[in-house]
Amino acid sequence: MIDKYAVIGNPIAHSKSPLIYTAFAEQTGQNISYEAILAPLDGFSATIHDLINKGFKGANVTVPFKFEAYDLCQKHTERAFVAGAANTLNFNGGHIVGDNTDGAGLVNDIVQNLGHSLHGKHVLLLGAGGAAQGVLQPLVEAKPRDITVANRNVDKAHVMVKRLSIEQAICNISVLSFDALLQNYDVIINATSTGLTYTALPIADSIFSQTCLAYDMMYGRETPFMALARKNGAQVADGLGMLVEQAAEAFYQWRGVRPKTAPVIKMIRAL
Ligand code: ATR
Repeated sequence: MIDKYAVIGNPIAHSKSPLIYTAFAEQTGQNISYEAILAPLDGFSATIHDLINKGFKGANVTVPFKFEAYDLCQKHTERAFVAGAANTLNFNGGHIVGDNTDGAGLVNDIVQNLGHSLHGKHVLLLGAGGAAQGVLQPLVEAKPRDITVANRNVDKAHVMVKRLSIEQAICNISVLSFDALLQNYDVIINATSTGLTYTALPIADSIFSQTCLAYDMMYGRETPFMALARKNGAQVADGLGMLVEQAAEAFYQWRGVRPKTAPVIKMIRAL
């Protein structure tokens, strides 16, 4: 029997997930189906319960339901707890278990695909919304020397950092306002939504260097953040690799098999 999975969002027509998971399944010989499902804005819970009744094994969750998905779960992984959001649901065993693979996807893209170690490095995370919160714990686990979180609303960044328990806070984490950012960083991650609105962030040129990786979690077009980083000589990456890597991590959690991501990233980039 084929094992059924889906991605739930609103809107969902643009989703690349069916293509990505179909490629993973072909590559690894896993007998699964994967479809994109549009849930009404007030019908996420009903959609999930319908999938469970139909025997689906799990689901991915995308905008705007990642927080609602978290609330619907009976159990959470540690990384989903710190994120306060779930992008991967497992329906096995009568419980809905919520995981969040976004941060693992980001770290795998940076370390394995882009070849930038995070271990012992100075990392700057821009933003403290859902996207930033989703990646904080896996970033900490990569053991950088320190993580600076900068956000327009500084209080929100403090609240986000406080969700990490003391054991998880194994590296130095500080919170700054944008105008206090002066020194340069080894890896700078833009997790704000300014790429969507095509807005420039009020950050100084001096935070970039020739050896710095500037990573925008958005993909699809060059953001003002990427353009600024490029002007200052940094290596620049968009979030397409993260998209495929977070899917690979979810696939691994569901199927116990880790697909090769490089050919899938290449395929999606060529679309
Ligand atoms: P997402 O799920 O994409 O993270 P979000 O939770 O609404 O969306 O968070 C958006 C993030 O982008 C926040 O960090 C937000 O900063 P505030 O918390 O101060 O609102 C940031 N952001 C959005 N527009 C911005 C802008 N014009 N300048 C700086 N930061 C911005």
